[in-house]
Amino acid sequence: AYGGYYTREDAKELVRYAAERHIIVIPEIEMPGHSAEVLAVYPQLSCSGKPYTSNVFCVGNEETFVFLENVLNEVMDIFPSDYIHIGADEVDKKHWRTCPRCRNRMKENGLTNEDELQGYLVKRIGAFLQTNGKKLIGWDEILDGGVPSDATVMSWRGERGGIAAAQSGHSVIMSPGDYCYIDHYQWIPETQPEAIGDFLPLEKMYFYNPVPEVLNENERKYIIGAQANLWTEYIGTEAYAEYMIYPRLLALAEITWSMQEQRSWDDFKVRVNRAVPLLQQQGYN
Ligand code: ACM
Ligand code: ZN
Repeated sequence: AYGGYYTREDAKELVRYAAERHIIVIPEIEMPGHSAEVLAVYPQLSCSGKPYTSNVFCVGNEETFVFLENVLNEVMDIFPSDYIHIGADEVDKKHWRTCPRCRNRMKENGLTNEDELQGYLVKRIGAFLQTNGKKLIGWDEILDGGVPSDATVMSWRGERGGIAAAQSGHSVIMSPGDYCYIDHYQWIPETQPEAIGDFLPLEKMYFYNPVPEVLNENERKYIIGAQANLWTEYIGTEAYAEYMIYPRLLALAEITWSMQEQRSWDDFKVRVNRAVPLLQQQGYN
């Protein structure tokens, strides 16, 4: 792990600062994948039991659930949000295939494949959150293995997961890679600091409609918003983070807070060009 950390007090201060501005901070606590840093320190929670072998929790091990619930208890203590995001994206399930404890868990619960094993974890953590009065958010992979009925789906692998979720009555937050990933270049790469790749200029983001046309009127109600993601593999400084966030976040704000019929790029462009110097005056890069 690199890039620093928040203490409990830092996180509480952030929550307080946001709350004073009517913003709710929703934490994402990744499971069962993207957990290399946890399993370096708690190798007994991986399938092999050895550090640096996997970034995926062993779902067959009861201790995994004790650990995750302890973490979530601390997290709920810090973040008063109604929602907790549990990730569940990009899980390399190969470790589960050969792990005796994971096999056993599957057998005992009548699970026929590894996607359903992930579904077991998602449902069990969802039930835990529910008893604590919280609602679960997960990336669209949670649709692959059976999903708690009150779960909110965050659609990142395009809009497909979000559309399917809305059609089956789940709340959806749209965050498709092509339109909402602000770790992508915002202008011709040769002219920009190094980024992870891809291309999302301001205009493309502005014309994104988070409510897919294929949904009917009732299904559209399940699209509760959109999110931009600034993953920080290539973001070394706060100044660079600000550079990537602005002005694209202004476009996201407008497309989530206004009706599609009101979109006007020409009008937005004028307003953005007024907003940027104001942001710079406040010290943003
Ligand atoms: C994601 O970008 N893996 C959600
Ligand atoms: Zn295992």
